[in-house]
Amino acid sequence: MSGLSHARQDGLMAAMDAIEVADGQCARGSPRWRRNRSIEVQRGFHDREFTILGWFALEYLILPESSSSKRRLVILISGRGSNMQALVRACRDEAWPAEVCAVIASRPDAAGLSWAHEQGIATGALYHKDFPNREAFDTALAEEIDRYQPDYVLLAGFMRVLTPGFVNHYAGRLVNIHPSLLPMFPGLHTHAQALATGVQLHGCTVHFVTPVLDHGPIIAQGCVPVHGGDTPDMLADRVLAVEHQAYPAAVRWLVEGRVHLTADQRVEVDGEPPRLFRGVDAA
Ligand code: GRF
Repeated sequence: MSGLSHARQDGLMAAMDAIEVADGQCARGSPRWRRNRSIEVQRGFHDREFTILGWFALEYLILPESSSSKRRLVILISGRGSNMQALVRACRDEAWPAEVCAVIASRPDAAGLSWAHEQGIATGALYHKDFPNREAFDTALAEEIDRYQPDYVLLAGFMRVLTPGFVNHYAGRLVNIHPSLLPMFPGLHTHAQALATGVQLHGCTVHFVTPVLDHGPIIAQGCVPVHGGDTPDMLADRVLAVEHQAYPAAVRWLVEGRVHLTADQRVEVDGEPPRLFRGVDAA
C-alpha cells in the first residue's frame, strides 16, 4: 500500500479489518488478531453478563412473583389429620395455586404430624399444658403460624376453642370443618347429638370462623343419611367420607380467589358450583 496516501491507507485498513473481523481471518498475534480477540472477549463478557443478569431476573424478580401467586396454607390439627391429608393430596394432585407451608398440632403426639413430615411439609406442635392460660397458648400459636405468612389458616380437627383475639387476628382467613350441618349441633359429640334428636340427615360444614363457637359464613356442606341402627361411630365414618369431599373443594375455591362475602355475611362462590356434597348413600 506504499503508493497510497495515509488517508486511503487508513480507510483500506479499516475496511480490511472489518472484513477480517467479520470472517474471523487474520494472522495469530497480529494487531488485527489482537483486536478481534478483544472483540470476542468483550462479546463473551457481554454474553456472560446477560446470562448472569437473566439468572438474577429469574431468581429474584420472576420466580418470586410466580411463587407469591400461590396461596400459602397452614393447617392446624389435633389428632390423626385425615382432613389435613385430604387437603394436602388435593392441593398436590389437582395442582392448586397454593402450597401447604406447615402443619401445626395442638399436641406433640398428634398422629397426623408424622404423615405431614413424610410429605416434606414443615411441622410444629404446641402443647396447651405448657402454657399458663388460653391467651398465652393462642399468642404462641399465632406466632408459630405467622412464621409461615399464611393466606389461609385451616382448622382440620383442631380440638381447641380459640380466643376472640386469635380469631380476629385471622378474620376472613380462618376456616374450619365441623362435623354437623350447622347451625345444628355445634360443640362436641355431634354424631351422638344427631342420633339423639332423630334427624334423618346429618353431615358437615366448612365455614369461616368467627369468635362465636362453630358459627360463621358457610362455604360448603356435606350431607349423609342417618340409618336406623347407626351408632355414633358409624355415623362419624359416613360423615368423614363427605368431609373429605367438601373441605378440599371449599379450600380450592378459596385459593382460586372465587369466594366472596356479601354485605350480610353470606358466602358467594364465583361460577356458582354446587356447594352441597352428597355422601355415598345420600341420594
Ligand atoms: C373431623 O370429623 C372434623 O370434622 C372434626 O374432627 C374430626 C377430625 O378428623 N372437627 P381428622 O383428624 O381430620 O381425621
